[in-house]
Amino acid sequence: MPLAALSALAALFLASPFGSPPKASIRCIECHARSTPGIVSDWKLSRHAEASVGCDSCHGTEHGTAADAAKARLPGPDTCARCHAAQVAQYKGSKHALAWAAMMAMPTFHYQSPVLTDGLKGCGGCHAIGLREEADQKAIAKVSGRDYGAGSCDSCHTRHTFSVKEAREPQACKSCHMGFDHAQWEMYDASKHGVRHELVKLGALPATASAPTCQTCHMPKGDHGVMTGWGFLGIRFPLPEDPAWRADQTTIMKALGILDPAGKPTTMLEVVKGAKMARMTEAEWQGERDRMLVTCRQCHAESFARSQLRRGDQMIREADRLMAEAIEIVAGLYRDGLLQRSKGQRVDYPDVLRLHDSASVVELKLFTMFMVHRMRAFQGAFHDSPDHALWSGWSEMQKDLAEIRAAAKEMRRTRPPR
Ligand code: HEC
Ligand code: HEC
Ligand code: HEC
Ligand code: HEC
Ligand code: HEC
Ligand code: HEC
Ligand code: HEC
Ligand code: HEC
Repeated sequence: MPLAALSALAALFLASPFGSPPKASIRCIECHARSTPGIVSDWKLSRHAEASVGCDSCHGTEHGTAADAAKARLPGPDTCARCHAAQVAQYKGSKHALAWAAMMAMPTFHYQSPVLTDGLKGCGGCHAIGLREEADQKAIAKVSGRDYGAGSCDSCHTRHTFSVKEAREPQACKSCHMGFDHAQWEMYDASKHGVRHELVKLGALPATASAPTCQTCHMPKGDHGVMTGWGFLGIRFPLPEDPAWRADQTTIMKALGILDPAGKPTTMLEVVKGAKMARMTEAEWQGERDRMLVTCRQCHAESFARSQLRRGDQMIREADRLMAEAIEIVAGLYRDGLLQRSKGQRVDYPDVLRLHDSASVVELKLFTMFMVHRMRAFQGAFHDSPDHALWSGWSEMQKDLAEIRAAAKEMRRTRPPR
């Protein structure tokens, strides 16, 4: 055996990081070392094992045989809060805590198959990071059996290693912040920030070379209270002062069902407030912007950072121009009786939050223009990926608009308005 390996082995014995397991967990560990060995070996790697926090601390002691596994408690944030009150309090004030509520608020959510909405698959696979009401947990259990993943504190430091080192890497965010409508992983990965981080990991740059991760910008000093200025939807109150942009954001809010076709607030506005889907005051938005600037200033001049963030704002404005024009075209088709309402739709107006459940091809186009291409344009700008902002965002929006215009023309030609 090479010397290095021998001394590593010796160090392992001497350091003996594995504290003695609490008495209540000895039987759990003995039996689970056979039934689920991967769980026990991961737990042994954790700081919990080191600190003698056993299986019983999180799962209780009610279950003790293969036949009564249903008696084992599944821990949520309140279990962790007994020992980690600060992180849980931050999380409860974060956007993550609202993920389940925001998902449930979507207009066609309740028509989806439970397999897509419940825990760990489809929408629920990612939105399980949010807090779940007990009533929802019961409803899920009724349809699909035991409700796993409620209020996931294991989303970023996964069970049962619960490792801070894992949580600090951008990959910890990747399984959710990727793909269709929020490709932050792909954008970051392609940005100078992501590339630098990758090169640090590969050893091409020294370990201390500056390279921000998702966590540097969104969880400064380990703050679990993630929240941004513009959020996912890229809307905010009060509406922008610039009259043209204001009009475009108003049109977009109509297509989100927040305003009715006449521009009056709907019940959806309360939902948006409740699930913090938009900042409701100038001060709230500015607070998040200032917090972000403090982070940029660790590595950039303030004027550089400010101008870069302002360009992100301007990208939203530019994208909103194209988006509003497309929405108006489709709204015109409703006005002229060329499109009809579908199941559960309350008004004669396009609703992009109906997602793939929109009834017509032209509305499906509008949905991808909003959810995929407008998102890429501004999210790509904020995440410093020129390719996403331009080619996968802006350029695709131009194409969408041209296609929507052509489709509307064709609909009017083949079936003239009443
Ligand atoms: C005699 C063996 C045995 C002992 C002792 C035991 N378990 Fe289990 N446990 C099992 C088996 C087997 C399952 C899996 C049942 C299944 O396949 O769904 C299980 C399941 C679980 C589950 C998952 C429950 C679920 O609904 O999926 C948890 C959590 C758990 N055990 C924790 C513990 C804890 C904590 C202790 C000690 C207090 C313990 N176990 C003691 C055998 C044991
Ligand atoms: C720090 C808290 C914590 C400790 C300590 C802990 N667990 Fe868990 N365990 C969790 C969490 C969180 C989940 C996920 C619950 C969910 O999905 O709802 C979980 C889930 C499980 C599951 C079911 C899910 C699966 O992947 O099969 C089993 C079985 C389990 N734990 C066994 C154990 C055993 C055995 C020990 C001790 C060696 C242990 N746990 C120690 C927090 C803990
Ligand atoms: C009975 C108390 C207790 C409970 C319950 C508990 N922990 Fe811990 N946890 C500890 C202790 C003790 C440590 C290590 C000492 C420290 O905080 O420095 C620790 C450390 C951690 C760490 C840091 C690990 C590292 O790599 O440094 C994470 C992450 C963590 N816990 C997450 C959780 C989560 C998530 C839950 C709930 C599912 C949970 N803990 C439940 C006591 C607990
Ligand atoms: C299990 C899936 C999952 C993981 C892992 C995850 N997130 Fe999230 N994140 C979400 C969901 C879902 C939302 C939307 C929350 C809502 O709807 O209220 C969200 C929202 C956010 C927001 C708020 C955006 C806004 O509206 O202002 C930020 C910032 C964020 N996540 C950053 C991160 C970072 C950084 C990581 C990794 C350290 C991470 N997330 C890991 C699922 C996840
Ligand atoms: C979005 C990803 C994410 C989620 C969700 C998350 N954490 Fe963390 N957690 C992190 C990161 C990143 C760190 C490391 C922060 C740092 O750099 O110090 C961390 C660190 C911790 C630590 C160690 C703190 C220390 O100073 O050593 C604890 C304890 C912890 N988290 C508990 C929790 C609990 C409890 C929950 C559920 C309410 C939770 N975390 C949910 C990402 C997350
Ligand atoms: C260099 C800093 C930085 C890094 C690194 C970074 N972000 Fe962001 N992120 C931002 C800024 C700036 C915004 C826009 C803030 C605003 O709305 O004012 C943002 C916005 C977001 C949002 C809200 C929607 C959006 O995209 O505009 C989410 C979610 C998010 N980031 C997740 C992530 C994830 C996940 C990673 C890593 C894969 C990451 N970010 C990496 C700075 C960063
Ligand atoms: C791959 C993981 C994933 C899946 C699957 C997923 N989401 Fe999300 N969702 C996220 C993330 C991450 C965010 C936050 C993105 C951001 O802020 O840019 C989010 C944001 C949202 C928001 C916006 C919240 C806000 O405050 O603005 C809603 C609503 C939503 N999702 C509903 C759904 C519904 C409904 C489904 C299923 C049809 C679904 N999601 C499927 C990860 C997912
Ligand atoms: C931990 C340090 C660090 C943080 C924090 C950071 N950056 Fe950077 N950033 C860098 C480095 C290093 C580069 C590569 C510089 C180069 O290309 O010569 C870079 C590059 C960039 C670039 C690409 C353009 C250029 O100059 O090459 C932009 C845009 C940018 N950063 C904006 C931001 C913004 C906005 C923030 C805050 C939201 C931020 N950065 C936070 C380190 C950081």
